[in-house]
Amino acid sequence: MEIINKISEIRDSLSKERLEKKTIAFVPTMGFLHEGHLSLVKKAVEENDIVVVSIFVNSKQFGPDEDYDDYPRDIKGDAEKLSEYGVDYVFAPSSEEIYNPNNKTIVRVEKLSEHLCGLSRKGFFQGIAIIVTKLFNIIQPDYAYFGQKDFQQFLVLKQMVNDLNIPVELVMAPIVREKDGLAMSSRNNYLNLEEREAATILFKALNKGKEMVLNGEKDAKIVKSAMTEMIENEVLADIDYVAVADPDTLNDLEKINKKVLLATAVLINETRLIDNIYLELQ
Ligand code: PAJ
Repeated sequence: MEIINKISEIRDSLSKERLEKKTIAFVPTMGFLHEGHLSLVKKAVEENDIVVVSIFVNSKQFGPDEDYDDYPRDIKGDAEKLSEYGVDYVFAPSSEEIYNPNNKTIVRVEKLSEHLCGLSRKGFFQGIAIIVTKLFNIIQPDYAYFGQKDFQQFLVLKQMVNDLNIPVELVMAPIVREKDGLAMSSRNNYLNLEEREAATILFKALNKGKEMVLNGEKDAKIVKSAMTEMIENEVLADIDYVAVADPDTLNDLEKINKKVLLATAVLINETRLIDNIYLELQ
């Protein structure tokens, strides 16, 4: 496994692989890797010849009051984990390598970016869109792997790739959870014991919604109210959003028909956590 920091070097290495007709898979991450990230890596390794994992804490997707400086980083530990999975290249550039102060281009995906996380995190999806575009142009992968954990991110990037004719296929992998159901996240690291316990409310509430939908509840408002009430009863939790949405457009649903996305973002004290369940009905 090679760890590369320079754009020119990763380009050179990958162009050689491409000459040999190898399929190149890419797993973009912000590092501090946990089993959620590693499930994507494992899938990518199983399904492709060459796997590139990027580790880059992208300043452009953090708001001014958010946790860019405090975001956990452990490049050495990450590299150790990745080397055990058969990854070929780790691309870990500096911020200066990626962003030139003279850059003037933005990538903004309308509509899909304006729902859910886009409402409380201004510029978040624009930050993701620009970094992923740049990384796709640098790596030029055949396949790129993302987690369902960030369902909206996946939709936004899929729209972007289609709109900009970027020749990559996006693959979505399921959410990896702790034993008690909490979705794995680098930010879980911020939680103290009491908060960690309270954080289970996200998955509990989503499951409540799921149960109602599977039992035939069609009224989205009723499902949303039940989930909201559960989270409100947790004293450490402060709701950002609870959504019962159309999984294609992210618009609020009124009536639940064939498929539905149950999604929530909750502050547990200071720590913002997200989770979702996607349901397809028979
Ligand atoms: P990051 O939060 O590090 O996540 C990297 C990838 O891991 C994303 O595709 C995310 O959905 C996936 N992931 C995170 N937790 C997961 C879990 N519990 N189960 C399954 N997959 C999980 O997402 C980003 O970084 C950034 O926005 C990025 C795309 C790298 C652009 O900066």
